[in-house]
Amino acid sequence: MPALVSDEHRQHSEYISLLQSQNLYPFCFEVTSPCNHRIVVANRECINFISNNYLGFAGHPKLQEAAEAAVRQYGVGMGGSPLMCGTTEIHNRLKEKIAAVYGQQDTALFASGYQALIGAIQATIGKGDAAMVDGLVHRSIVDGVTLSGSTRRVWVHNNMEDLSSLLTRVQSKYGRKLIIVDSVYSMDGDIAPLPAIKKVRDQHGALVLIDEAHSLGVLGRNGRGILEHFDLPDGADVIAGTFSKFAGAVGGFVTGPKDFILHLRHSASAYIFSASLPPVMCATVLKAFELLEEEPQWRELLWANTRYFLSGLKSQGFDTGLSETPIIPIMIRDVEKSIFFNRSIFEAGVYASPVVYPAVAPSKCRIRLGVMATHTRDDLDAALEIFKKAGKEVGII
Ligand SMILES: Cc1ncc(COP(=O)(O)O)c(C=O)c1O
Repeated sequence: MPALVSDEHRQHSEYISLLQSQNLYPFCFEVTSPCNHRIVVANRECINFISNNYLGFAGHPKLQEAAEAAVRQYGVGMGGSPLMCGTTEIHNRLKEKIAAVYGQQDTALFASGYQALIGAIQATIGKGDAAMVDGLVHRSIVDGVTLSGSTRRVWVHNNMEDLSSLLTRVQSKYGRKLIIVDSVYSMDGDIAPLPAIKKVRDQHGALVLIDEAHSLGVLGRNGRGILEHFDLPDGADVIAGTFSKFAGAVGGFVTGPKDFILHLRHSASAYIFSASLPPVMCATVLKAFELLEEEPQWRELLWANTRYFLSGLKSQGFDTGLSETPIIPIMIRDVEKSIFFNRSIFEAGVYASPVVYPAVAPSKCRIRLGVMATHTRDDLDAALEIFKKAGKEVGII
């Protein structure tokens, strides 16, 4: 019988076992509190820098009330896909809300952002077409391109010359050319230069898909994402996103023209062959959209905290890479130092996430931080002190 774990995979598992045996394994700690600015992890209360719950909505009482009411009305799920019994009146209200937020005609909802990205790509391109992806896009996009049957062509991160030259080179080789970017990059925290991307799109007759995962609720005067940020309402042809960041919930969406969304509903297997987003999540996310309008203080606090923390880290001498948003990497560029740094801050009361090989190249290893609107100044000051000590210990500042 062939071994269930191949030799190549065994090497990786052995490395993980080694970290576990030395009490250095940094993943899957048991959490026993809500995901607030303080989080209880492995029986220890920590300052929370690991989440994407930027606005703190996961713990907002109004979202919890909305969720409880929806559970009483619809139970925990609909037991079918959106095309079957999975579309309720709450789904329809959420679909309309998202279309209105983005100035689009219709929306498809998914049980996760990962699926939404796959569905969006499946519905837009296929065999004979090309996905022109930025070098740092999220894994859901890479997998979506593979499943679509199109060819993946990669351009240098945020480099318009490279994108333009690639499009010129492949012009007659493929049918449709779909440029795909993350509006905000999930590991580096920088923003896609959408005005320049739009220009390149128009010059080359391409299409643009944006992944709004870390942009909705964060960018723009009203938190409506990158299109509002750049005042570019027609800057994207297909818009996909997730509820797992701005709403601290779960689920995903694709919004666009009516005929495109109708086609998606009847062609994207990620949409057709999976259970619908539970109504409890729709009600929660609808409330999150309401709060974006009614409680703008959360976005203001998020940005005030981001500016304060980023400048604090920089003045201590940390390399924060390209960050210009609440996603802040502390670039360590070494696997072992990253693991030790993370262990040291955890023991001192900060919970954050190391991003190490094989997820990124060893030279790109870092600790990824997510700033929250609900972090207090005391949280941020305490974390800065803890980082300074750990940074000196591992010799990166
Ligand atoms: C940029 C980006 N796109 C898509 C996703 C997938 O979202 P979800 O967590 O809703 O599956 C993520 C989540 O990590 C992400 O960071």
